[in-house]
Amino acid sequence: MKNETRANATTTVFGSEKMLTPAPTQTIPQHKTTPEIAYQMVKDETYPQTQPRLNLATFVTTYMDEYATRLMNEAIDVNYIDETEYPRVAVMCGRCINILANLWHTPEKAEWKAGAVGIGSSEACMLGGVAAWLRWRAKRKAAGKPYDKPNLVMSSAFQIVWEKFCQLWQIEMRTVPISLKNQTLDAEAAIKLCDENTICVVPIVGVTWTGLNDDVEALDRAIDAFNKKTGYDIPIHVDAASGGFILPFLQPEVKWDFRLKWVWSISTSGHKYGLVYPGLGWVVWSDKSCLPGEMSFSVNYLGASITQVGLNFSRPAAQILGQYYNFIRLGFDGYREVQQNSMDVACYCHEQIGRMKCFRNYAEEMQNPLFIWYMDPEYDKTAKWTLYDLQAVLQQSGWMVPAYTMPKDIEKMVVMRIVVRQGMSRDMADMLLNDIQNAVAGFEKLKYPTQSRLDYEAQIKQKGRVYTH
Ligand SMILES: Cc1ncc(COP(=O)(O)O)c(C=O)c1O
Repeated sequence: MKNETRANATTTVFGSEKMLTPAPTQTIPQHKTTPEIAYQMVKDETYPQTQPRLNLATFVTTYMDEYATRLMNEAIDVNYIDETEYPRVAVMCGRCINILANLWHTPEKAEWKAGAVGIGSSEACMLGGVAAWLRWRAKRKAAGKPYDKPNLVMSSAFQIVWEKFCQLWQIEMRTVPISLKNQTLDAEAAIKLCDENTICVVPIVGVTWTGLNDDVEALDRAIDAFNKKTGYDIPIHVDAASGGFILPFLQPEVKWDFRLKWVWSISTSGHKYGLVYPGLGWVVWSDKSCLPGEMSFSVNYLGASITQVGLNFSRPAAQILGQYYNFIRLGFDGYREVQQNSMDVACYCHEQIGRMKCFRNYAEEMQNPLFIWYMDPEYDKTAKWTLYDLQAVLQQSGWMVPAYTMPKDIEKMVVMRIVVRQGMSRDMADMLLNDIQNAVAGFEKLKYPTQSRLDYEAQIKQKGRVYTH
């Protein structure tokens, strides 16, 4: 006899008919089931996935301590936007913005700094970009000049959000190519792309593709000279998705933030090296005058006027609590220690991988706890495998270490990347390195090339080899 369709309180999870029927993919099931069965079905869908802490492809937090997790779970039912009901969340959000603004040396004297919470860096970048565009437009309008051809300048190693921003707001994107020689944004080349229609230049600290930092100080100097010469006032928005929480702790002497004249806005991800679970982003303006009035609305029931800006309306409050908790729990010293550990583990991996004869690190220096490497050009000539094969073998032991092609102009180059975050210990690094060595030893015993190698060789025949080092 078939088990009854409608499960009741005594139905066992794996004795139920539900476990014999396909999961819904198109229509809502007609009947109810028990929470235990529903839970199990959803949970089991996630079973074959990578363990988040072994996912070295992501920048996003995969470890928080028990108290942070408890605090966030307890706030799971709170919508940040309901400030009237949850005014203390708004206050904590304002405090987080203040803390970041001060960490980045804001010149703003007002008690509440100009900034906004986002669902991630993407929203934060968009807000920074929109503000730059509106400021530029207002100035052009006031001067009676056309304002229909805005452009934005950055390196070709941009994160996809900037392409989205430019497409959605119809802004021309002008990019400076990166190369093996010029690994980050070349300030002089960026200036050559600027004109009266440039809404801002966007350097990145913690470039997604490479882990390196664009030299914001050099860019600021170049823009200062250019603005003086032309009478323009082209500002800088720093995309500090990763670096915004690394540089202040590990290289406080490096000037990349509001200490520089033309840095008018900075965005970061609270859910990357801010050490909070996804999704949380932050954007801060150097002062209120940089934040166009059209983007903001103010509330006055917090004992002061707090400015609110955002693309989303509803959003989880839990992440804000997680961020504020981290600031209290870790303090400056705690953040420094956590980031330094990530950096040390990343440096260790960088060094070990650099020693393997089959690999070559992309950059000698490490500026953030992540790095990329590629196949040594000599080794590559006779190898029977590719980095895509290595990715697949590592995945069998649970690691996600992505292989990918580089951006425009060096797009033929295949690299691999490791992002080290809180939760990756030296011991785990040793396990990973061991798995890499074993995989390479296995590849070296191959009699015939892998399919991925054959495809790659076919490409080389068409387009030539990649490496120009
Ligand atoms: C430089 C940079 N900017 C923006 C983003 C987008 O961030 P998020 O995923 O927080 O929206 C990323 C994500 O990796 C990034 O690396």
